[in-house]
Amino acid sequence: MSTFNLRVNGRPVTVDSWDPAQPLLYALRGSLGLHGAKFGCGLGQCGACTVLVDGQATRSCTLTLSRAEGHNVMTIEGLGTPAKPDRVQAAFIAEQAAQCGYCTNGMVMAATALLSRTPKPTRDQVKTGLSGNLCRCGTYTRILRAVLRASRA
Ligand code: FES
Ligand code: FES
Repeated sequence: MSTFNLRVNGRPVTVDSWDPAQPLLYALRGSLGLHGAKFGCGLGQCGACTVLVDGQATRSCTLTLSRAEGHNVMTIEGLGTPAKPDRVQAAFIAEQAAQCGYCTNGMVMAATALLSRTPKPTRDQVKTGLSGNLCRCGTYTRILRAVLRASRA
């Protein structure tokens, strides 16, 4: 059994695991009880599991626990709360930018990373920035509006 130390949503956490290749996603959901990041494809192809690692949008299904050690991880639980959503969450709510909602948390995290490096993106920059996140319900138009709304907030 090995112990892995990292920071999650601003707090130091320790995860015990037999497998250093365990995906960060499993540790977040299974060991830490943070269910915001979703398991979609498990192959780094859909973006449902997106979290921020040192501010970068990262697929937590393909990042191993050993590679996450020592880094700062932010999940959607670290943004706002239902009572006080952050600006990206508030914009997604205002634009009703979800149907089933399975992709939404990954979209919000990818949008958060995009807006931190490009505070006033164009429509095309939002499309490019979120191009790795898939929505099977096809709510892309509303997601696009939400990110642009957040950029004006
Ligand atoms: S579950 Fe990680 S990219 Fe699809
Ligand atoms: S809202 Fe259903 S997958 Fe995007």
